Formats: sequence, C-alpha cells, structure tokens
Amino acid sequence: MAALLETRGLCKSYAAPVLVDVNFDLQAGEIHALVGENGAGKSTLCNIVAGLRTADKGEMWLEGHRYIPANKRAAEAAGIRIVLQELSLINNLTIAENLFLDHLPHRNGWINRARLREAAHETLARVGLTEVDPDLLVNNLGVGQKQLVEIAAGLSQTCKVLVLDEPTAALTVSDAERLFFQVRKLAESGVGIIYISHHLEEILELADRISVLRDGQMVVTRRRGEISIDEMIRFMVGRTLDERAALSQRRLSGEVLLKIQNLSAPPRIKEVSFELHRGEILGFAGLMGAGRTETMRAIFGADTRTGGTILLEGEDISARLHSPKAAVRLGIGFLTEDRKSQGLLLPKALRMNITLARLNDELRGAAGWLHRDKEIAVAEGWVRQLDVRCSTIEQTAENLSGGNQQKVVLARWLYRNCRVLICDEPTRGIDVGAKFEIYRLLDQLAEQGKGIIVVSSDLKELLGLCDRIAVLSAGRLVKIFDRGEWTEDLIMAAAFSELKV
Ligand SMILES: Nc1ncnc2c1ncn2[C@@H]1O[C@H](COP(=O)(O)OP(=O)(O)OP(=O)(O)O)[C@@H](O)[C@H]1O
Ligand SMILES: [Mg+2]
Repeated sequence: MAALLETRGLCKSYAAPVLVDVNFDLQAGEIHALVGENGAGKSTLCNIVAGLRTADKGEMWLEGHRYIPANKRAAEAAGIRIVLQELSLINNLTIAENLFLDHLPHRNGWINRARLREAAHETLARVGLTEVDPDLLVNNLGVGQKQLVEIAAGLSQTCKVLVLDEPTAALTVSDAERLFFQVRKLAESGVGIIYISHHLEEILELADRISVLRDGQMVVTRRRGEISIDEMIRFMVGRTLDERAALSQRRLSGEVLLKIQNLSAPPRIKEVSFELHRGEILGFAGLMGAGRTETMRAIFGADTRTGGTILLEGEDISARLHSPKAAVRLGIGFLTEDRKSQGLLLPKALRMNITLARLNDELRGAAGWLHRDKEIAVAEGWVRQLDVRCSTIEQTAENLSGGNQQKVVLARWLYRNCRVLICDEPTRGIDVGAKFEIYRLLDQLAEQGKGIIVVSSDLKELLGLCDRIAVLSAGRLVKIFDRGEWTEDLIMAAAFSELKV
C-alpha cells in the first residue's frame, strides 16, 4: 500500500548537516513516533513536512503525488498541520481568537462573536478545557493550559497528517491521557500522526511504529512491541547509558536554610509553610493548577504576597524580598517553567546567555574590563558539561533545538551560584541522556550545601531525586513526605485531597 506521506533522501544543513538522507513514511491511520536526543533533527524534519522549512535535497510524496509545500499555508491546504514545540499563541488575543485565527467566523465583515465562542467551547472541550472562558486573553493562562489550547487549535481543523512536536511536555498525566484519547480517535478516523516526545513510556503506549533519529540520520524504524525502551535509548545515544548515574547518599545536616511561614498569594496560595534544609533537594508535586508555580513565584518576588514570612538562614528577609531582582541579590535563583518568555535572550549568542548572570562580578576585572577569555572558557565548560549541541558558542540561542535552549537557561542558573535554587520543571523537553546529567548537577549543588527546590510533574523524577516531597493541592501544602515514607499512590492521594468533587 502506498504511504500517506513519504520522505526520500531528505537533507538539510545549516552550519553543519542537520538531516542526512532521511527516509521516513507514514501510513493513514497510523501514529508514528519520532524519538532522538536534543538536536537530533526531529523538529527540523517535521518543520519541513509542515512547510515551515525547505529541504536542501530530497523528495516528499503525499498520497502518491509529489509534495512541495511553499510554506505553512500551502501545507495546510494539502492537509498537513503541525502543533509546534514552542508555544506560538498570541498572548494579547483571546483564546477563541487564537483558535480560529485564520478563519474567524464573520458576517458582513463583522466577527460573529457568538458563533466564535460556541465553536471555541466545542474545540476546548476536546482537550478537556471545559471550565475555561474562550474570551479570556491567552496571557492569563499557565504554560500547561497554553499547551492544551495550542493542541486544540491543531485538532480543530480537518487534516490528513497531524504533526505533534512534544505536545505533552507541559502537561500533567491526566491531561496527557486525555490527549492520547483524542490522538487515538483521530488516528482511527484515518489521520496519520507524527508524534515527537522524550517520554519513552508514553511512546510505547501510544505509537504504532517508532523511528529513531540520531545526529540527523534515521537509524531504525520498528513496530511497537518490537523495541524496548532500553533499545530506543541505545539507538538514540549510540551506546548504553550507565546505570542511572548513581546519586550521592546525602546526609542532611537538618540545618534550616530557607523557612517559609504562612505564605499567602492571591488568588490561590493559602498559608503555605515549609522548611528547606541546607544540602537538601525538596520536591514539589501536585496537579496542574495546584499552585506549585504560583508558590515559587510568590517566594521569588515575582507575584505579590498578601501574607507570610520568609527567613533565609534565620534572617527575616520578607520585606527585602519584593522583586525577582531582590531575590537574586539575596541568593535565590529561579529556573522558570516558561523559558521562552522569561529565560533566554533569543537573538544573543549562546556564550552571553550562559554568562549573563555574572558579567558584573566574576567576569569583570578591577578596571571594569570584561575577561573575555574567562567568559569563553566558562561558556565552553558548560556547553561540554551539559552536552549542548551547537556549532559554536557564538551561535544565537534561537537557532538551538528546544531541548538545547533549556540546557542553556539551566547552565546560567547553575553558574550563578545561588544559595537557594528553585527549578520549575528543570528537565522538560530534555532527552533521557541529558536528564541524568542534570540530576547529577543538582545533586552536586546539594552536596555543596545549597538548598534546591524542584517542581516537577514527573513523579518518577521526584522520587529518584528528592530527599523530601511536598504535595500541594488546591493552593495548600497538604503533606511533606520523607524519603522512604512515600509511595506514588500516597502522593497522588495527597494531590487530590483538597479537590472538591
Ligand atoms: N536556523 C538554524 N541555524 C542553525 N542551526 C540550526 C537552525 N535551526 C536548527 N538548527 C540546528 O539543527 C539541529 C537540529 O535541531 P532540531 O530542532 O531539529 O532538534 P530536535 O531533534 O527537535 O531537538 P529537541 O529534542 O531539543 O527539540 C540543532 O543542532 C540546531 O542547533
Ligand atoms: Mg525539537
């Protein structure tokens, strides 16, 4: 049977080759997963399929005809749609407007608001956003919700091929489940789906076939059931990963580094209290909307607090901790979950993005001169340590793959040497190999006596990494588990405990 979509010998180079002779095919009704390390070329391949980039060489065939999309619109006209890895919603438009950007329903030139709202409601319901007002500005949504809206936009039009580039990166398990249901339903109706993800368990659950890209080459395509997770990893990285990079056996001093008392921040956070010890990694678990990010933003001075005391090494810093800038001055760092808008200077070199935080102390000499050699050495050191895939450290951040951009933001915070480092979803979008390197680095920081907070939707990650896990539910801290005391079920039960059904 002829494939629905086929690529033959696709090549693409920027400074270096990114895709080399890629053959890939997709059948109608099939979910075909694409996996590979950060920078392997997954997004590039999909962007070419969706008309966002053009290949240097090679052919594409759609339903037996040559397919040469001039741009995204042409691809859509041919029935190929993509939900991008990076959020691309327009912040100051409403959800409904974003959903139907290209074809707003109108009558006599006026947008038909009632119809728009109705259609938006219907579309949002498909991804489970039944409670959300379509007239809300996208700006007001959290990252997870934005991602759901983005996916809803992709599902809202009929198509033959749907490309989903890391759709579950910002989703909780239950939202991901709902998405899988929709994806399967689409596949059953005959749509071919290309699915990119770093969650390999999820891939085994969802995909009919799995293809692995390594350094721009297609190394293998197998049916589900004919490849294990370990094999996938081996094909991805070209070697076996050492047994889960053993973390240190931290012995906690019990010395309190940061103490939060009765922290409240409208609209959700109520009377949150906890202690972070020196040398500890404290995890925060909870459902989407439980208030994990809001709690951290309030501590960091990014959101207003209406009550509570914050003590750092015994000193009350509540009054001084009124802005992110003040927080950083006090030695508190925050790796945000929304790295695109809050983290990177996209048009600037990788070098500068890493060293930015310390251009004014470490890297500047007495007369105010910048130590350029030292700056380069620092940046190159981090690129090596986190295995950032780039051609040189002068490459601009916007040209890095999604996962590599995240590594750069992380490097910047690790280099800043904070007393307390808050990480919100530190490994989102990061490939399996690099994840363990990040765990190791966080572990090292804790060993040095820093206090680390890790917010994560990946429970396994928290279980493996943390000394204790705090659980938030509906804006309240309901329980803090010690290592050994927890199970996944107990944590989930706590996460649901404050929800009214
Ligand atoms: N405009 C560009 N200029 C230079 N290099 C680029 C450009 N766009 C992409 N690249 C490079 O192409 C390579 C592949 O990137 P791509 O985004 O396809 O990776 P990916 O497999 O999707 O990774 P991730 O898992 O991190 O999303 C990267 O090394 C990236 O730096
Ligand atoms: Mg990508």
